[in-house]
Amino acid sequence: MKQKDASLNGPLLGCDPFLLNEGFAIAKEKGLRPKHQITIIIPRNFGRDAISGQYLRFILAVFLFDTHRETTRLKLKSILCAQSHSIEQASHQMNSEVNRIAEMAEAGERMIERLRKKAFLPEARKGLAVRYGIAEAAQLLGCSTNRIRMAENDGRLPPPPATKNGRRPGYSIEDLLNMRQVLDASPARATLDQPAIIAVQNFKGGVGKSTVTTHLAHYFGVLGYRVLVVDCDSQATTTTLFGFNPHFNITREQTLYPYLSIEPTQTDLLYAVQRTPWPNVDLIPSNLELFDVEYELAASGADGGSVLAARFRKLKSGLLDLAQQYDIVLLDPPPALGTISLAVMQAANALLIPLAATTPDFCSTVQFLSMMEQVTEQIRQAGIDVSYDFVRLICSKFDSNDPSHAMVQQIMEQSFGPALLPVPILESAEISHAALRMMTVYELERPIGTPRTHKRCRANLDQALGQVEQLVRRNWGVTSPASAAEVVNAT
Ligand SMILES: Nc1ncnc2c1ncn2[C@@H]1O[C@H](COP(=O)(O)OP(=O)(O)OP(=O)(O)O)[C@@H](O)[C@H]1O
Ligand SMILES: [Mg+2]
Repeated sequence: MKQKDASLNGPLLGCDPFLLNEGFAIAKEKGLRPKHQITIIIPRNFGRDAISGQYLRFILAVFLFDTHRETTRLKLKSILCAQSHSIEQASHQMNSEVNRIAEMAEAGERMIERLRKKAFLPEARKGLAVRYGIAEAAQLLGCSTNRIRMAENDGRLPPPPATKNGRRPGYSIEDLLNMRQVLDASPARATLDQPAIIAVQNFKGGVGKSTVTTHLAHYFGVLGYRVLVVDCDSQATTTTLFGFNPHFNITREQTLYPYLSIEPTQTDLLYAVQRTPWPNVDLIPSNLELFDVEYELAASGADGGSVLAARFRKLKSGLLDLAQQYDIVLLDPPPALGTISLAVMQAANALLIPLAATTPDFCSTVQFLSMMEQVTEQIRQAGIDVSYDFVRLICSKFDSNDPSHAMVQQIMEQSFGPALLPVPILESAEISHAALRMMTVYELERPIGTPRTHKRCRANLDQALGQVEQLVRRNWGVTSPASAAEVVNAT
């Protein structure tokens, strides 16, 4: 939000424009960039006496929320110490409960970072330790173990990994990718096949969108596809599951923001693509600051419609360009009907809707579908085309021991027919335990629970996500043969 918006947005956000303007001025003086989230924690009414307290509190909030860097916090502390008298006065007047929000946020952030470091030490950065035996490798490549051994013997492939304590550590994902190249077993699409751009979308929160997105990414990754994951949600769960701490490791400039902003600083999306521990899975990360995109639209006033339409077109064209380097692009939008969700809806060419087998999820999903119908109609009327290669629902947390899940699953089958994928993703402690380590089940080196639980979970994921792979592949290889010129000119 810019300074000039303060008089407009102050009342909207329930705080005094004067305070906002003052805060902006101070932030500007200090060369800091204020964030709109802070304004929400300023109480609506305050007396004259409370002004200095509120004022300090506002400055504090500007500094705290402005940056991730510890140095700024230290700077802030010294500024505040220098004004300890006023602070003391302010602290009496401040609402201690509101104060606690910032403290809880800080403590929580420190804990996330500790968890992340614990999970990924020694390099404090997530690595990929998962390995595959020769039988599993052969199965994944769709060839015999003999074929791999022969290629290793005749030097087309490097020698098998050396044995350690009488056991082979197995092949890495890199090894598998190399095998695919050498043995001509790549699943990649043909040049003229369209990359699948799948939005994993539902406006209901907590239905498993990010879990499905990341597991799909790694499922496709194991199979050798080139995958791009775009975290479009400022909550950044997907970014976290890729081992990044959105608060400490990601800046606003690394998210979609510079491209989608009202005053964009990027003209394409290449800048945002980050490598992940998976050699064939890339990520456009997110953090809380991506929310500014939503905010800017609200602040754009009468121009909102045209700004919105421009962003729709922009995300779509940016992703289409980028998608040419991949087989599959997965979009994880926020659980709300906002600018980004609408833009994602329009940029995708396929829609996967996760939902749990519970009545509230079923009802919300029905609402989501009817809202989708209305919104796509409106988008179409605005001259923007929306079309999908497939739209499917997937039950994302199915508990086979809970009879109510079976009943709701039946209701869903009756309502949605073949649009509901027949194999649900089972609710599994292995998935939630992996999430605790900021991982997917495909990244686990060894089972977290019992080997049986792990095996069951992995087999179910392969089967459930395999349904999506089939849908993607259904649209490949059906293009009419290309002319020689098209092949030569294709990117
Ligand atoms: N199949 C599953 N088994 C066990 N836990 C699951 C499963 N699917 C999702 N979860 C858990 O449910 C919670 C919500 O999942 P997730 O964050 O993927 O939902 P979401 O739809 O992306 O949420 P949001 O709407 O906030 O973006 C997480 O704790 C996740 O670990
Ligand atoms: Mg999510």
